[in-house]
Amino acid sequence: MKKFHKRLLILFEIIANIHILLSWLLFRVKYLSKQNNTSVNVSSPKTTDDLSEKKENLIQSVLSDSGNKSFLEIGIGMNPNIERVQLLLKNHIRYTACDFEFVCKNHSSVIRNHFPEENLTQIRFLGNKAGNYNWTLFELLKNKESFDLIYLDGSHTFYTDLPAFMLAHLLLKPCGILMIDDLEWTLNILKRNMAKSFFEYKFYRKMYNFAEYDEEQQATPHIKLIVDELFLKHLCYSPLEKYKHRSIDWVALKKSEL
Ligand SMILES: C[S@@+](CC[C@H](N)C(=O)[O-])C[C@H]1O[C@@H](n2cnc3c(N)ncnc32)[C@H](O)[C@@H]1O
Repeated sequence: MKKFHKRLLILFEIIANIHILLSWLLFRVKYLSKQNNTSVNVSSPKTTDDLSEKKENLIQSVLSDSGNKSFLEIGIGMNPNIERVQLLLKNHIRYTACDFEFVCKNHSSVIRNHFPEENLTQIRFLGNKAGNYNWTLFELLKNKESFDLIYLDGSHTFYTDLPAFMLAHLLLKPCGILMIDDLEWTLNILKRNMAKSFFEYKFYRKMYNFAEYDEEQQATPHIKLIVDELFLKHLCYSPLEKYKHRSIDWVALKKSEL
């Protein structure tokens, strides 16, 4: 009976994947036909790996300089970066991660399998079953928590991340560091990546509703808008030159003392 159930589950999974594959092909066809006669390039820049390595180096250099600090990451990605986790453990950094519950579960089990000997009490995952991480961030604020470092790298869209940015501002200690990724990211870039890669499509397809934004807004980098208009102009954060790289759209901002 158990074997029968297992086989049935595998069959359902295969059918679900075929369904996602077909909807991806349709998404791709729609995306390509919208490009009209303009030369269509569904590939990312050749240097993507190189850029993400440089970005990772910037994150890790902030973490290397931050022993015994508390670190909140909002949006943690499909899989954990083991080297980064090693650094967190080595530097006794208290780590809180926010993302969808299923993403948090995956990170937690990969990390537990990778570090079976470690006492992982300094690492905590706070997953949202529905909606987005703003509810979780609000709960942290209600519980009077605060952090030395915050990395905001989630949805990158205005309606989700404007509240997330404001909550991050309130959760960050004076003189704390706010790291922000993908300043130049747009919904158009996401569409291109989803058309190019089945795995990107499978992961992101339910997270984004392109219809919430008009064409101009889909071509506008929402994160850059929020950072320039609110954090630099109004909230007086200052970019940390030490953690800058001219070809990387990533920034570390220092909160003022007040
Ligand atoms: C670019 S990835 C984060 C990468 C990660 N910070 C890193 O350095 O590898 C963006 C993350 O935001 C999460 N995200 C997007 N929308 C979300 C939502 N509504 N609720 C929770 N998490 C969300 C995605 O699940 C994804 O893991």
